[in-house]
Formats: sequence, structure tokens, C-alpha cells
Amino acid sequence: MIKTDIIIVGSGIAALSVANTLCKNGRKAVIITKALKSSSNSTLAQGGISVALSENDNYNLHYNDTLEAGCYKNDPESVMTLVSKAPDVLEEFIKTGMKFDTDEKGNLLFGKEGAHHISRIIHAGGDRTGLKVMEELFSRINENITINENEMVLELRVKNNECGGVITRDNHGNINSYEANYTILATGGIGQLYPCTSNDITITGDGLAMAYRADIVISTPEFVQFHPTMLNINGKTMGLVSEAVRGDGGILINQDGVRIMEGKHPLKDLAPRDVVSRVVYDHYLKGDKIFLDISSVENFNGRFPYVSEICDKNGVDLSKNIIPVRPGAHFHMGGIKAKPTGETSLPGLYAVGEAACTGVHGANRLASNSLLEGLVFGRLTAENIMSSDRTAPRFDDEIPNIQIEKLPDKNEIRNKMMEFIGIVRYKNKIPEIIKWFEEYIPSGSDKPMGKIDFTKTTNSEFEIYNMLTAGYIIAKAALKRNESIGAHYILDKE
Ligand code: SIN
Repeated sequence: MIKTDIIIVGSGIAALSVANTLCKNGRKAVIITKALKSSSNSTLAQGGISVALSENDNYNLHYNDTLEAGCYKNDPESVMTLVSKAPDVLEEFIKTGMKFDTDEKGNLLFGKEGAHHISRIIHAGGDRTGLKVMEELFSRINENITINENEMVLELRVKNNECGGVITRDNHGNINSYEANYTILATGGIGQLYPCTSNDITITGDGLAMAYRADIVISTPEFVQFHPTMLNINGKTMGLVSEAVRGDGGILINQDGVRIMEGKHPLKDLAPRDVVSRVVYDHYLKGDKIFLDISSVENFNGRFPYVSEICDKNGVDLSKNIIPVRPGAHFHMGGIKAKPTGETSLPGLYAVGEAACTGVHGANRLASNSLLEGLVFGRLTAENIMSSDRTAPRFDDEIPNIQIEKLPDKNEIRNKMMEFIGIVRYKNKIPEIIKWFEEYIPSGSDKPMGKIDFTKTTNSEFEIYNMLTAGYIIAKAALKRNESIGAHYILDKE
């Protein structure tokens, strides 16, 4: 048994925000991450951070845009907490050394993205915001934080409705049991459940699956956001083409040069993501080729160095001013139900960032609100923990005698998810995928996709089991929701 005070699972922006607040206040924590610490969606993030800091903006306007994009399925109180705290958190981040992009006079530059009625997105390094912010946060970590890379958290340790830490397998194959007073899940979302995604390869719904096995309340998992513009090379997704490109004048066209968002929404190419994704997908299914026309974007290479780099690597000639695109899974609005201060339904367990569903995103997340959520709610979670006093319950681990009998290939799961629970959904088809998932329920489970004997699986098998579990949870919730709203778009309404 390894005794610790605080465990943070994951190493993206939410995890680092918690860790930074803790360590600068003298609290120790262990970050456990299943790959390298840099393997996260945060590091890949191109879009920036939305914050009401420009002269003609205020947080009430940010609040309104967040609710409108979320189809008013958001938790208004959580949204208000996020947008009202954002200016102070970002101002302090800047004052203490974080460099966002500015004009020659040193004034912050504000960009625009989908569904924002005002330019309020700040960037760093053009489209390398995620990387720059993560580099800054890692540089602030002090000796109070230990980072264990290549160690996979398999289960939460739970007894008598309390969380007392985690069970992991490290890179030597050892099973470790950590006793912790506070356990924080910051494992990110579920992007790798789909064949086309902007997400890091490690993002396989592990936190969601673990929470489900521990009977923790999960909220609106059916809301999965697709981003309209992934770089599309012969049907394969080779990275994201930031929405900020459309914010700077990029236009979606078909192979004949016709604007595809004309007449589809008053905000046209900058309509909410769910709307744009459906239009692009519709064309894609008809066999059209869709491109981003960047001819009116000034200084494309300077403004979007990362997109330029991935285009270049994949043989896209930017001098032709068109980039081939298609939609892909991008963000999970649903997840482990949590407060902005991190508490979940299980005492001792906290969730932050994309793994959590704090209700801020509703049925469709507003662009550039996710790095913001990680920063702001990560800090609130750390402050909450610092002001509480909790001792981990003492108990012995129990390993269930349930074995995985068979597992599909990861790509089989991805293709099924896209077909049945993708950008558009048919209610009458969802039972088919649920039935398919049910073929993989190990016999003797106390519930579908319940706890298994992790000592008898490899990490890679366990990851597939987590993907199956997360997919099953999403499918069940999608079947339950009858209204067609935001990212849950049903084509065969009763
Ligand atoms: C993007 O750059 O388009 C992504 C930004 C986001 O997801 O908020």
C-alpha cells in the first residue's frame, strides 16, 4: 500500500491547474498518467481561451453565448461561476508570466470562433495555445508534485460509499494500491471511441468507465461534440484545423467552390459547432469534397503555424488556398457529474476538466471554453480540497473473480460508435449497438460492464474494456433522450 494525500489522475490542463494551486500552497500531490505527461488533448489544443477581457466585452455576454451554444441545457450557476471568475484567473496567469499573443503595443489580441458574438478568444503562439499553456504550467510545478508516467489507473478504491485512492499498473507491470485522502479524476474525454477525432491516442474514456464501475453519478453522456474541420487526407483525420481559421475569414466550400453554410444559419461558417458539423457531414455522405477556403485569411502561416505544419507534412499545398476537411469527435460535454469545486457523488472523489460534467457546456460546448474550464475549475477544486479535512478510509482491496471473455478490436468499437451514435442518430437503430455491446459483458458481472479481475488483463485489454464501457454508457443515454437537441441530433423522431 502506498500512502498519499492527494492523487491526480491525468496530466492535462485541469490536472495541472489543480497541481499548481496545491503545490504553490505547500500541498503535496502525485500525478499518475498512463502515458507521457505531455500526452493530452490540452497539449494538442489549437484554439485558445475565451475570456471577457476586451473593452467591449463583459462576462454576462460570455454567459449568454455559452448558454446559447449549449442549447440552454447548461447549468446556469456553473456557467456564471466559470465566466465571472475567468477574467481574474486569466489576468493573474498573465501577471505571473504566461504570455498570450499581443499587438506591437502589448495589448492582448482577441480572436473569434463559432457561436461567439464578440471576439474574445486569446491565443498563445498562434494556434499552439494548448502547448504554450501546458509548458508554462509544467514549469511552475515544484517539488511538492510527483509525476508518475506510464502508470495506468485501473480502478478506484471504494468502500462503504467512500473513495480511498486508486489501483494502478506501473510500467514494470506491478499492481500498486494507493491510499489517498483525495482522488481527482482528470482523465479527459472519449474522443478515441470514434474513427475520426482530434483527441490524443490516450483518450479512451477511462475515467468515465471507472466512475461507472464505482456507481458514481454520470450526467448527459449522450452529448458528444464533433468538430467540423479535421484535416482530411483520403478519409483519414490527420489533425485539427482550428475554428479560429474560420474566425479569421476561412470559408467552407464544396468541390465546385460553393459556400456550404450559406442559408444554413445566421452566423454562417461561425455557427455553433453541432450545426456546422452536420452540414459538412451531410455533404460528406453525399460524396462531396469539402474544403476550407483560406484565401481571405491574412498571414496564414504566421497566424496558424501548427495547422501549416500538419498541412505541409501531409502534402497539402497551402499556396492553393484550400484545405480538405471533414468532421471528427472532439469533446465530451457529458461525463462524471461534478460541481465546479470538483465534488462528485462519491465522498473523497473529485472530477475536473473534460472527464467531469459540471453542466457548463450543456448540449454543445462553446468554442474555447474547455481550456478555460480546466484552468478555473481546477483551481476551485484545489482550493476546495485545501479548505477541507479528510482522512482516507482504511480497507483491504477486493479483486472480483470476473474475467473478460472476449474483446473486439478498437476500430470495431470506433466504427460502430460513428455509425450508431455519431453526428446524427436514429433512435430505432440505437438498440442494435446496445445489443452488440452486451455481447461483451463478462458473465457473472454484478452489472453490465462491471468490475473485472484486472490482474488477468493487460493494460491494452483494459483500455478496450473501458472503451466498451464508455460506449455502452453513451448508447444507453442516447436511447433514453427523446428530444433532438445540440450534439444529440435525432433523425427519426417519434
Ligand atoms: C479549435 O481550435 O477549433 C478548437 C477550439 C475548441 O475546441 O474550443
